[in-house]
Amino acid sequence: MTERIYNFSAGPATLPLPVLEKAQSELLSFNGIGMSVMEISHRSTHFDEVIERAKAGIRKHLNVPDNYQILFLQGGATLQFSMIPLNFLGKNETADYIVTGAWGKKAIKEAKREGNAVAIYNSEESGFKSVPSDDELTFSENANYIHYTSNETIEGVEFKRDLDGSGIPVICDMSSNILSRPMDVEKYALIYAGAQKNIGPSGVTLVIIRDDLLEKVPENQHTLLDYHAIANKGSMLNTPNTWGIYIIDLVCQWLDEQGGVSAMYEKNKDKAKILYDAIDSSDGFYRGHAEKDARSIMNVTFNLPNEELEKQFATKASSEGLDGLKGHRSVGGIRASIYNAFPKEGVEALIDFMDDFAQKNG
Ligand SMILES: Cc1ncc(COP(=O)(O)O)c(C=O)c1O
Repeated sequence: MTERIYNFSAGPATLPLPVLEKAQSELLSFNGIGMSVMEISHRSTHFDEVIERAKAGIRKHLNVPDNYQILFLQGGATLQFSMIPLNFLGKNETADYIVTGAWGKKAIKEAKREGNAVAIYNSEESGFKSVPSDDELTFSENANYIHYTSNETIEGVEFKRDLDGSGIPVICDMSSNILSRPMDVEKYALIYAGAQKNIGPSGVTLVIIRDDLLEKVPENQHTLLDYHAIANKGSMLNTPNTWGIYIIDLVCQWLDEQGGVSAMYEKNKDKAKILYDAIDSSDGFYRGHAEKDARSIMNVTFNLPNEELEKQFATKASSEGLDGLKGHRSVGGIRASIYNAFPKEGVEALIDFMDDFAQKNG
């Protein structure tokens, strides 16, 4: 087998090796049935077991109460930017958006097409480096919901808490930090996440939605944009991404073996700490992008003294088996995405590389 490298990609991102190996071993004949999971009906009992196990896995790992539905949709997290206002924001109604990065900015843009979407916090002018404290947030009295992005993947800016909406339904884009730490699902009315970072491959969007919100879906909604209709059909209103859901099931089983989300959180904090320590102890050669109390433990973003060095850094790292470190094209710099499946040895290899690079170029 070709040797695997350390893949720091922000998403689609590295998957756990045992998951890939299991999928490989079952590729030609799933469960001994002589067909792959991609070749069987989504209505077959074999697939039914897969999707039910995947839902149960998510429910267990995130501690999702019974009054929430777990849905597997398509269209990415991006479709949720539209689907949420299409369902829960009428023309003359208000929703509060907390904009801490590029994804939150995209989300509010779509919401504005539907109703009065208000940015009650927007850190764009200061370069998307911070998250607000509770004191900095004043919610609109009549807000239908509050929307925020728990981890901004591009800037590497993360909320360290589950936001308290003071009774207003909270909706959260958790695409890039779901399953990375224990969280209180009951604080949310709706959680969504593209799968391609911590949950599985691209092409599936996880939505966790509270029953009372389902009741607010307007009548006459387009069927495939109707959370209620999708929930009623167990995410099988049309053909779901069967392969993606199968991998999600395997990732949940792998998480079991890792000791679940609490154990994952300890590992994630440790990986992030050694990397941020390396940045902070580089005498200013490396500069972290986010403010310290908003630093993401999933996407570590930093800069070098100039763009030319950043380019050289990413290219040289890639040639040494440390791939995907170039920052997002919109902000530049370096970004190391170290999701659940990313091994600590890879972070250590990056730190060694950083020390060496700084010595030679500092
Ligand atoms: C926080 C966040 N929200 C939304 C998206 C968009 O997701 P998708 O490509 O699944 O539409 C991403 C993609 O990386 C993301 O990181």
